[in-house]
Amino acid sequence: MNPQTDRLTGIEFRPAREHERLRFSVAEMKGFSGHFLPQEGELEYRKIDDPMNHTVCAFDGDDIVGTTLWEPYELTVPGGKSDFFGVTGVTVAPTHTRRGILREMMRRLLIDGRDAGYPIAGLWASESNIYGRFGFGISGETILSKLDVRHGRFRAMPKVTGEIRFADVATMEKVAPVVWNRTAEKTVGMMLRTKADWDWIYDRRRIPGFGRRRAFCVVYREGDEALGYAAYRIEHKMEAMHSYNAVRVIELIAATTAADAALWRFLLDIDLAGEVIHHHPKKSNLLWLLADPRKFSFEPYDSLWVRILDPIKALTGRKYSAAGQVVIRLIDEFCPWTQGNYELRVDSHGMATCEETGQDPDVTLPVASLGAIYMGAHYLADLQRAGRVTEHKSGTVAQIDTMFPTSGVHSFLPEF
Ligand SMILES: CC(C)(COP(=O)(O)OP(=O)(O)OC[C@H]1O[C@@H](n2cnc3c(N)ncnc32)[C@H](O)[C@@H]1OP(=O)(O)O)[C@@H](O)C(=O)NCCC(=O)NCCS
Repeated sequence: MNPQTDRLTGIEFRPAREHERLRFSVAEMKGFSGHFLPQEGELEYRKIDDPMNHTVCAFDGDDIVGTTLWEPYELTVPGGKSDFFGVTGVTVAPTHTRRGILREMMRRLLIDGRDAGYPIAGLWASESNIYGRFGFGISGETILSKLDVRHGRFRAMPKVTGEIRFADVATMEKVAPVVWNRTAEKTVGMMLRTKADWDWIYDRRRIPGFGRRRAFCVVYREGDEALGYAAYRIEHKMEAMHSYNAVRVIELIAATTAADAALWRFLLDIDLAGEVIHHHPKKSNLLWLLADPRKFSFEPYDSLWVRILDPIKALTGRKYSAAGQVVIRLIDEFCPWTQGNYELRVDSHGMATCEETGQDPDVTLPVASLGAIYMGAHYLADLQRAGRVTEHKSGTVAQIDTMFPTSGVHSFLPEF
């Protein structure tokens, strides 16, 4: 008897069907401890274009007790962009946890990703102790920052020639994607958004059970050219007639230094506000703009987790910072099809070729470690110090650390 499969006796794994869309959302929300309130227009929570055949669910009789969903995305990676198998909607009903339902759904989901030809999968995790065992590696961090606006003085204000105006949704629909795509060209880790993704920002889609998310939007322009925007909400706080509103920045995207500084200045100077809260890239311009940066509370957390599905496609799908040649043995117990020895050759332009090889490896990496360095935000030497790499040929880790990491901004913001 196999205790692993025994615990799953009576559980059926299959995609939800189109007529089960509503039940999928109810089950998903219950898994996240939310209530589903269709009467408040929350039926649009799941994108209309999320096909139910992209789901892997667990059924106990008629009940959906496990949900997963993948969405096709494009993600900016060093030197370009990559198809990205975005995993989301992962829940198991509290009545059915810890008997292997997630493990089985994830196994099936990643096979779907491989069969659909994706080089990498990824997700944003609710807890950081779940996904390492399935071969996902922490590929980047995001910062949750809070700043008491009394400490928001800048060391020096960059020259700003543009101005900021409120924008309605119709304006944002024209402006924001242009600014976003322009910023994404020089930023690793940004998703290229669809219309449905933008609807999150404009409150057209709401997260059931978690209330309304009415946002303000402002655009920074120089002449007719939009160079940045911010979307934010105000959380009202008042004690004894003193207002300490919190300005919660949903996102601030700026294509230039002046746009970035002007938008930050605007957010820090909103009357009746006590603090500004924002999730932003690890390399924040705000840190360097502030006169007293220690007052900036700075809480990093793991954000984008990457999982390699096809090593050759993944390794040749990005550019590198230096030339080099290395043989990597990849260990992957959860998705054994990726296992093997891979020879990676990078030319002086940072372009790679890669093939499976019979040569002895220079280094052995668990697949999660390759995921962790894939986006160029981490050094392999740091993983080596934690025992997550085995170096066979001395100097290989140092060589990989000249090739994989990329300077510049990495922006790992939750998107789905
Ligand atoms: C996270 C969740 C999906 C796990 O589902 P599950 O069916 O209980 O997971 P499994 O039984 O398949 O567990 C697989 C392994 O992960 C571990 N694990 C699962 N969830 C874990 C958690 N939250 N914390 C620590 N370990 C966890 C299990 O102990 C098991 O470990 P093992 O491989 O050593 O045996 C479920 O607890 C849940 O729905 N949580 C609330 C919603 C949520 O956070 N979803 C994730 C969104 S990113």
